[in-house]
Amino acid sequence: MADGVRHYQTVKFPIPGKDGATAMVAGFSVDITERKLAEQERRTLQERLATAQEVERWRISRELHDDLTQRLAGLAMELGRLVADRPASAALLKKGLTTLQRKVVRAAETARHVAHQLHPSELDDLGLVAALRSYCEDFARREGIAVKFASRKVPKELKREIASCLYKVTQESLSNIARHAGAKAAFVTLAGTAERIRLTVKDTGIGFRPQPGATVGLGILSMKERVSLLHGSFSISSHPGQGTEVAAEIPLEAQ
Ligand SMILES: Nc1ncnc2c1ncn2[C@@H]1O[C@H](COP(=O)(O)OP(=O)(O)OP(=O)(O)O)[C@@H](O)[C@H]1O
Ligand SMILES: [Mg+2]
Repeated sequence: MADGVRHYQTVKFPIPGKDGATAMVAGFSVDITERKLAEQERRTLQERLATAQEVERWRISRELHDDLTQRLAGLAMELGRLVADRPASAALLKKGLTTLQRKVVRAAETARHVAHQLHPSELDDLGLVAALRSYCEDFARREGIAVKFASRKVPKELKREIASCLYKVTQESLSNIARHAGAKAAFVTLAGTAERIRLTVKDTGIGFRPQPGATVGLGILSMKERVSLLHGSFSISSHPGQGTEVAAEIPLEAQ
């Protein structure tokens, strides 16, 4: 094991005498250190995945509370005001209702966004490339940031975990761009080879100084965690004033 201690399991079996009864019991020891190590590794991975999922649930609940709930509460108030104030003319009423309609559409988009984060059903229906393209389009519309999506040589049949991991890394990277980068444009690229698949998400925003080991938020941490669970590599390169690039590369043999 990691501490150098080896683990053995004793296997015993009876040896019958001439009369058929057990005359003696023989036994041998099997070295089960490797099996124990594998079990321990699997347990650690499961615990880490559970933590990543817990973090994700917490963030989704925060988004529901901070964004959707606030929007709906605002809508309820404005509707109440419209009813109480009784607009003087049909034109004024129409104006008020049109504003409300726009806000309802925005709230519906937020709800759709949260649903996506819970389970990107498009991944199952359309596959990674089409699902990502559609997500990038939605994001661009929602946030007013131009997103250029490109893909090449992405295997048609990708393991579910790999597709879902790359989808989530894109979601978090784009969300970081909307929240922190102040960028006008973002570039999402997905490229496959026979052995690996690589995702990059770049922006032309303000950049930052990534601090190794520092945990400002949970987004970067959970992206790293997800990629490393699939034996992939994850990196962020950024400099103040020079934009940011997030890269995730996952070996396909994990398929
Ligand atoms: N594209 C980017 N442009 C500029 N700064 C960024 C970008 N991505 C991340 N950052 C910086 O890195 C920090 C950590 O990002 P991270 O996603 O881990 O946390 P967060 O977005 O602040 O919070 P959350 O837990 O909700 O994701 C951010 O607070 C921001 O300062
Ligand atoms: Mg973040």
